[in-house]
Amino acid sequence: MTPAAPAQPGPPLWLLAELTHRCPLHCVFCYNPVDYATQPDELGTEDWLRVLREARALGAVQLGLSGGEPLLREDLEALVAEARRLGFYSNLLTSGVGLTEARAAALKDAGLDHVQLSFQDSTPQMNDFLSHTRTFELKQRVAATIRAQGWPMVMNVVLHRLNIDHVDRIIGMAHALGAEYLELANTQYYSWAWVNRDQLLPTREQLRRAEAVTEAWRARLDGAMRIFFVAPDYHEGRPKKCVNGWGSMFLTVAPDGTALPCHTARMLPGLPFPNVRAHGLAAIWRDSEGFQRFRGTGWMKEPCRSCAQREEDLGGCRCQAWLLAQDASAADPVCVKSPHHGRVQAALQRAEAAGAAAGPREQPLVFRSPAESRRLAA
Ligand code: FES
Repeated sequence: MTPAAPAQPGPPLWLLAELTHRCPLHCVFCYNPVDYATQPDELGTEDWLRVLREARALGAVQLGLSGGEPLLREDLEALVAEARRLGFYSNLLTSGVGLTEARAAALKDAGLDHVQLSFQDSTPQMNDFLSHTRTFELKQRVAATIRAQGWPMVMNVVLHRLNIDHVDRIIGMAHALGAEYLELANTQYYSWAWVNRDQLLPTREQLRRAEAVTEAWRARLDGAMRIFFVAPDYHEGRPKKCVNGWGSMFLTVAPDGTALPCHTARMLPGLPFPNVRAHGLAAIWRDSEGFQRFRGTGWMKEPCRSCAQREEDLGGCRCQAWLLAQDASAADPVCVKSPHHGRVQAALQRAEAAGAAAGPREQPLVFRSPAESRRLAA
C-alpha cells in the first residue's frame, strides 16, 4: 500500500534542539543514540540560529534545549537570547552540571523561561552510582540556584528497577527542594536503556507500589506540587501515541543537524533523514521522506489498519516496533493485538524472575561513555 500522508501537516509546535551529545554523566538509561560517539561534528552557532528562525517561521512555539548536557555549549546564552527575540517559550533540560550562579544569571538575562533538572535518585549513593559521577550534592545546589532565579522548576527522575522503590523519598526530596512539577518518567526502552533493558525493567509489583505511593503523595500535597507519573510502555498493553503522532507536532534537530520526527528515529534502517545544513526546515518538515513515511494512518498494515483505536494511538511507537519486531511499520509490540507481543511478555517475565532473584546480576550494566559507544557501534 502506498503510504498516504496529510496534504499539509500542522506546524511543528515543539522544537527539540539537541545541542550536543557531550555529557559529563554516564547514565545507563540515556536516550541519546548508542553510537553517538561516532557521529559527525556539532552544528555551529550560525546554523542553530538559522534553525531557530526557520522553526519559528514554521509555527514552532516551544523550544527544548537539550543534549547531552546543553550547558557544555558556550553559545547557549546567544541561542536563548535569539529564542526570546523570536518569541519562543524556552526550556533548558539539564543535569545541572555547569549551572553556576553566574551562568544562571546570564541565562535569565538572555530570557530563558524554564529549567528542567534531572536527578537519578534521592540518595547520593544511588544518584552517583546511576550517573557514574559525584553529582548529587551539586544538583541540590543547582535546585536552589534555579529557585533563586525565579524559574519554575520541573524536576525529572527517570524510574527503573534500581530506583523505583525509592519513589517515596524521591517525591519528598522534590517537595523539599521546591519543585513545582515532578516528572517520574519510567524508562522507555530505546538506546542505552535498550542495552540495559534486562537490568532496568521493573516488576509489576514494583510499578503498582510506586503508583500507589505517588497517589498518596498527590492526595497529601493537594496540588502544591504536581506529579506526573509515566508508566513504562511494556506494562501497559496498549500503545501510546508516540511523539503525539509522527511528524505531527514534534521536531528534533540532532547535534550534527539531522532533523528527526523523534529523538531516536535515526536508528530506523532505510529511512533517510535530511540535514539542516543542506535543506531548509520547511521542506524538511513538509516534504521529506523521513517525516512523511509514518504520518497519519495510510502506512499501516494489520492489525493497526482495521483497529478501532488506530486514530487514538497511531499504531504506537515506530522505534519500539523496529527494536522489538525488526519492522518499523508493524504494530507497536507493546499492544496486546500485536503478533509480536510475546516478546514484550518474555521481557516482563525475565524482569519478574530477576526481581525475585537474590545475589549479583549475571549481566553488568553498561554505562554510557564514548568508549562504550564506539564498542557498541563496531
Ligand atoms: Fe521514535 Fe516512538 S521513540 S517513534
